Amino acid sequence: MTNWWRDKVAYQIYPRSFQDTNSDGIGDLRGIIKRLPYLKELGIGILWLSPVYQSPNDDNGYDISDYRDIHPDFGTMNDMDELIELARHLDIRIIMDMVINHTSDEHEWFKESRNPASPYRDYYIWRPGKKGGLSGKRKLPNNWTSFFAEDCWEYDEQSGEYYLHLFSKKQPDLNYRNPAVIEEVKSIMRFWLDKGISGFRFDVINVIYKNSLENGRKRFILTGREHYVSCEGTHEILRDFRRTVLSEYDCFSVGESVMVTPKTAADLADPTRHELDMLFSFEHMETDTVIVKWFRRRFAPKRFCETIAKWQNALEWNANYLENHDQPRSVSRFGDDLRFHEESAKMLATLLLCLRGTPFIYQGQEIGMTNFDFTSMEQIEDIESHNVYRLASRLHFPERFRWNMIRLVGRDNARTPMQWSAGHCGGFTSGKPWIGVNENHIKINVESQTANPDSILSYYKKLISLRNGSEVLRSGEFKAIRISKDLFVYDRYLDNEKITVIVSFSKTFSRYPIKGELLLSTYNRKDFDGSLMPYEAVLIRREDLT
Ligand code: NOJ
Repeated sequence: MTNWWRDKVAYQIYPRSFQDTNSDGIGDLRGIIKRLPYLKELGIGILWLSPVYQSPNDDNGYDISDYRDIHPDFGTMNDMDELIELARHLDIRIIMDMVINHTSDEHEWFKESRNPASPYRDYYIWRPGKKGGLSGKRKLPNNWTSFFAEDCWEYDEQSGEYYLHLFSKKQPDLNYRNPAVIEEVKSIMRFWLDKGISGFRFDVINVIYKNSLENGRKRFILTGREHYVSCEGTHEILRDFRRTVLSEYDCFSVGESVMVTPKTAADLADPTRHELDMLFSFEHMETDTVIVKWFRRRFAPKRFCETIAKWQNALEWNANYLENHDQPRSVSRFGDDLRFHEESAKMLATLLLCLRGTPFIYQGQEIGMTNFDFTSMEQIEDIESHNVYRLASRLHFPERFRWNMIRLVGRDNARTPMQWSAGHCGGFTSGKPWIGVNENHIKINVESQTANPDSILSYYKKLISLRNGSEVLRSGEFKAIRISKDLFVYDRYLDNEKITVIVSFSKTFSRYPIKGELLLSTYNRKDFDGSLMPYEAVLIRREDLT
């Protein structure tokens, strides 16, 4: 079996917001089927579907109540089978989101588990409260805090104990010390692989195994993390998944990995260790934040590009991304979505797609979709944003500060509907959309950009096609040549071929004289004399191989 996933460009779909076909205001599988030709035309080879399983939607599907069924909002299993089949016909492979750190509290296992005598009790992590001093009040089993800005333990009246949840209280953590849980997960993976999917994106995979439940060192966020981030137990489980399931299929795995360093990441994704094929890391997405993602600092291209270069050098293969369903839009964050919308979106495309590794594009990124101009908490759907806003209120953060956190960083920025046309709701739905449609769909949409050869979308198509046809861009080595205040220059090279990628984050003119054949320019220029326009990116084929 070849490492075909190294040669393809991946595209993430957030199904709720992609394309609605039955007018209920929620995207669906038939909508994805309808848009497959669009994705083919774009040059996509892998589709990552955010969860489409049964779920009460406390966290928009990342709380699964049945891993073997499709949520009726999205359609039926027949639709799913048809999608897999049609995609394969177009040589597009589908990977599913495997959310296995936790289930929904409405999953059958958890319902059973509430009964202390049930064989399912041990599928989750239950503990009695600690004795509560003089007051006699019950105390939580430990001092850990959750990813969603709340306690990690929820008391269950029925069984008189607490259960652990690293995310919302409707997302109880599975107990990976129980071999039965591991077997259940493997059988779910086989179920989907047998259906013809080509792999998994594993949600927060490096926290699944908890070493101990002791108190953690007190921290501003995620107290307790030293007891569960990248434990040896997780490595063993990943090797077991690989040995007993994944290696039997022509598939790959990409794992979302939190709080990893290049060293701990390499332990998860080094090909010789037979764990993950690649992982999503976060350090480059944290270069404009301090302490937590909610506290922003000025975006500094140099810091950002140095971090990207560090990870390029550290890992044999990276999963590269600038956006996903948890992050604000890249053109609003790393570019300039007002004065240089097109220019900076194309520059970011170049930066991303020319790196070594598998590039992941998030729906709408290819037309330069921007953050949403939210004006009040009532427009916000995301559970994480609501929790954080509440916590910030309890901590007496000034209202302006609180609101700016949500407005600039909140995940709903990425979750507004895909903008297909200038028509009603951007062509996403003929009904009432589950979340606001960005008003700028009138200008930023697929239809108008398809018709315009100079659009962001047309540029993505050109660039992807160039990458798909270029061995050196797909698998060549990476070398950073220059990283300055607003210029990033790097080489990709293989045998006797070399391509130099020059990207500018400057709002004015800059210079980087270099000899060679101009392959592509975001300004559509015919030749390159070393001067760069604002946010310009160019690709130069070089002859000297020094
Ligand atoms: C990471 C996912 O990307 C995010 O959307 C989700 O809320 C958490 N994991 C919990 O599953």
